Amino acid sequence: SSILEPGITFINKELKGKNIDRIDRRLKNLKDIFFDKTALEKMDPETVVYEVESYFPVEHDIEGGLFYGITYIHPGTVGNEYFMTKGHFHKIRNRGEFYCTLQGEGMLILMDENRNTWAEKMYPGSIHYIKGNTAHRTANTGNTILSFSAFWPSDAGHDYATISEQGFSKILVQRQGKPELISR
Ligand code: PA5
Ligand code: NI
Repeated sequence: SSILEPGITFINKELKGKNIDRIDRRLKNLKDIFFDKTALEKMDPETVVYEVESYFPVEHDIEGGLFYGITYIHPGTVGNEYFMTKGHFHKIRNRGEFYCTLQGEGMLILMDENRNTWAEKMYPGSIHYIKGNTAHRTANTGNTILSFSAFWPSDAGHDYATISEQGFSKILVQRQGKPELISR
């Protein structure tokens, strides 16, 4: 579909088309993460918030391999919160990750294990190093699709439970048309 642009273009012919996984996350899958439940209930639960196209060239428990993915977050808000990803720590906590913004504008929200939360601005070409032991979530603060590529160790895994239960200590909201990170 046209949403998956620029998409994964392989130079290595032997990798082409293999082990690619595509998922979408809709409002009905993201009930825990948005603050304004009243606003959420008024929206279509089938609304697609983001899509991820990932490439897994090795098994998930292999140490030393690398995974690659592109995330596409649609523009939108739930109440005054921007459309965003679930967010996670890595299951193996000390595993890091790189993000590189392709298109659009957004914020990368980061939280350490002491629940200190901060954010980095995302714009085409911006490169973000996510240290180990750091939860990460991205939000689309623009009017067009935000897309970014991610590179992470194959054995990192995802811990979604911690964030779905406890959230981040700050939320990103739109105030007078601008993103602002505020304490909950
Ligand atoms: O590896 C990553 O951190 C990203 O590819 C994310 O998985 C992606 O952006 C989707 O976010 P989440 O996994 O929190 O739903
Ligand atoms: Ni990650």
